[in-house]
Amino acid sequence: MTSLKFNILILGFVYLTQTAAQDAQFWNSMAQENLKKNLQKQWNTNIAKNVILFLGDGMGIPTITAARIYKGQQQNETGEESKLVFEEFSELGLIKTYTTDEQVPDSAGTATAFLCGVKTKSGVLGMDDRADYKNCTSSTGAEVDSILRMSKQKGKSVGIVTTARLTHATPAAAYCHSASRSWEGSYNLIQDMVDPLCTDIAYQLVMNNSDIDVLMGGGRRFFLSTNKTDPELNYTSYYQRPDMDLVDEWIRQKQADNASHSYVWNNAGFNAIDPKVTDYVLGLFESSHMQYEYQREKGPSGEPSLAEMTKKAIEILQKNDKGYFLLVEGGRIDHGHHATQAAAALLETVMFDSAVQVAKEMTDTDDTLLVVTADHSHAFMIAGYPSRGNDILGTVDEEVGEDDMPYTTLTYGNGPQQRRNLTGIDTTAFTFRQSGVVPKSSETHAGEDVPVYAQGPMAHLFVGTHEQNYIAHVLAYASCVGPYPGRCDSPLSSVTESSASSVIIPSLLLSISLFLSLL
Ligand SMILES: *[C@@H]1O[C@H](CO)[C@@H](O)[C@H](O)[C@H]1NC(C)=O
Ligand SMILES: *[C@@H]1O[C@H](CO)[C@@H](O)[C@H](O)[C@H]1NC(C)=O
Ligand SMILES: *[C@@H]1O[C@H](CO)[C@@H](O)[C@H](O)[C@H]1NC(C)=O
Ligand SMILES: *[C@@H]1O[C@H](CO)[C@@H](O)[C@H](O)[C@H]1NC(C)=O
Ligand SMILES: *[C@@H]1O[C@H](CO)[C@@H](O)[C@H](O)[C@H]1NC(C)=O
Ligand SMILES: *[C@@H]1O[C@H](CO)[C@@H](O)[C@H](O)[C@H]1NC(C)=O
Ligand SMILES: *[C@@H]1O[C@H](CO)[C@@H](O)[C@H](O)[C@H]1NC(C)=O
Repeated sequence: MTSLKFNILILGFVYLTQTAAQDAQFWNSMAQENLKKNLQKQWNTNIAKNVILFLGDGMGIPTITAARIYKGQQQNETGEESKLVFEEFSELGLIKTYTTDEQVPDSAGTATAFLCGVKTKSGVLGMDDRADYKNCTSSTGAEVDSILRMSKQKGKSVGIVTTARLTHATPAAAYCHSASRSWEGSYNLIQDMVDPLCTDIAYQLVMNNSDIDVLMGGGRRFFLSTNKTDPELNYTSYYQRPDMDLVDEWIRQKQADNASHSYVWNNAGFNAIDPKVTDYVLGLFESSHMQYEYQREKGPSGEPSLAEMTKKAIEILQKNDKGYFLLVEGGRIDHGHHATQAAAALLETVMFDSAVQVAKEMTDTDDTLLVVTADHSHAFMIAGYPSRGNDILGTVDEEVGEDDMPYTTLTYGNGPQQRRNLTGIDTTAFTFRQSGVVPKSSETHAGEDVPVYAQGPMAHLFVGTHEQNYIAHVLAYASCVGPYPGRCDSPLSSVTESSASSVIIPSLLLSISLFLSLL
């Protein structure tokens, strides 16, 4: 105990000497600027013509804090004072992520909640709790529609961009109804001997959701037929389809509709897309997930970043006068964490943030609601007493564990790597695995609340602690789609000045119309 107290004392002293310029005036004026800004804050009760939902897969609060420090340190700052782009959004709330059957959720149950507005079981996509995991029969009649589908029904353009497979849990909940997130392609249905009544996720994307304007991500293997050689792998993946080729089918549909379209699978194709004259895009940039940023090839045969895909998607979608809904997923933050490769997860988070930056620059807070959230957290920690500015990927400076071995500031509650002597090991490498306490082949999700950041029309509705399915309802209400058309048709919708009553009256009308629709 005394040595701990002594260490704190030493660290306190180091801190004070390093930050001498940050005197009382420094902190007081910073706080006063913040106070002034918040005193001027007004509610934006406009209609959200456009909605962009950014989903950092597995991006819990420890990830956000560590990524902010990482981002600052990449710019040679101490890091702690740095800010991610979305941390400047005007509103913030907390989201409860449990599913109907699990305290700590998976990405399918959570995606169904924030996209379709209802909680369901872990592993289930686009269906309510009546559906049982992997039970095709029980899923009939349990289908629920997503905010993407509702937006399309209102004549908006819609898009999905992700660094994961387009058939992976988060994007899939935007368009499919599947009793299992693992039924990504026909291969998986054959393996699980699924009733032919149920179709796979890639099939549903092309055959039942051909109206989605922009689709970009990985997962090509679930679309290509077994007759084709994957153009990047130069072999046929065993996940490819024996039944049909969904890329050829997508192109055939667009040609039949005389729709301007582009199928691309690398940067050369991606860069050649002219958003002014292209209405439909199918981009399948990898056989499986897209590359981690640290491994991404940026040349013509490589693939675009999440920010580049987001920019192209907005350029295409914004041609629609009725507006658009776009889902942007940073899908590989989660994968870095599962492998306890914190550097990879943090770089993915910073890249996700740069996609938010692009969208923020291209849109107007008057008519576009930007929302940033996570589906769930990870068993990830920032701990020890590292001094100010200590490398976030490094070991805690001037201190070792009771076992006399150095330890990293970033650790995991569980995972594949056990505690070991880190002397002489580069803990900042992208392939370095931080240790986890409980041995697990893959590190797990965590169950604490995740934040939701928002700016633009109705962003203030996120303030507070909410169930995760509430998110889809706010998106629908703000943009007047799905069960909430009323606000836009009412003359009150033109009220834009900031006052409590301008919100209370429409919500009163909403309650009345909801009540009437229940009768
Ligand atoms: C940070 O410092 C390194 C080493 O001095 C330098 O190479 C790099 O360009 C700097 N980065 C920035 C963003 O200033
Ligand atoms: C699947 O769901 C159906 C309908 O709810 C039910 O009758 C059946 O027993 C379930 N099958 C399994 C294997 O649980
Ligand atoms: C999906 O598309 C297939 C083929 O066009 C069709 O048979 C099926 O009924 C569709 N399913 C839904 C739920 O629309
Ligand atoms: C696949 O073939 C192309 C064209 O021949 C070649 O450029 C590429 O390097 C090959 N890729 C792999 C992974 O072998
Ligand atoms: C694959 O090629 C065979 C022989 O040409 C053809 O009969 C079959 O329909 C093709 N399958 C697909 C999925 O394209
Ligand atoms: C297809 O679209 C082009 C360009 O918009 C138009 O010139 C042409 O007439 C259309 N053809 C048909 C068959 O609709
Ligand atoms: C850790 O490794 C270093 C370098 O090999 C060694 O000097 C040190 O004694 C080791 N510490 C422990 C506690 O084993």
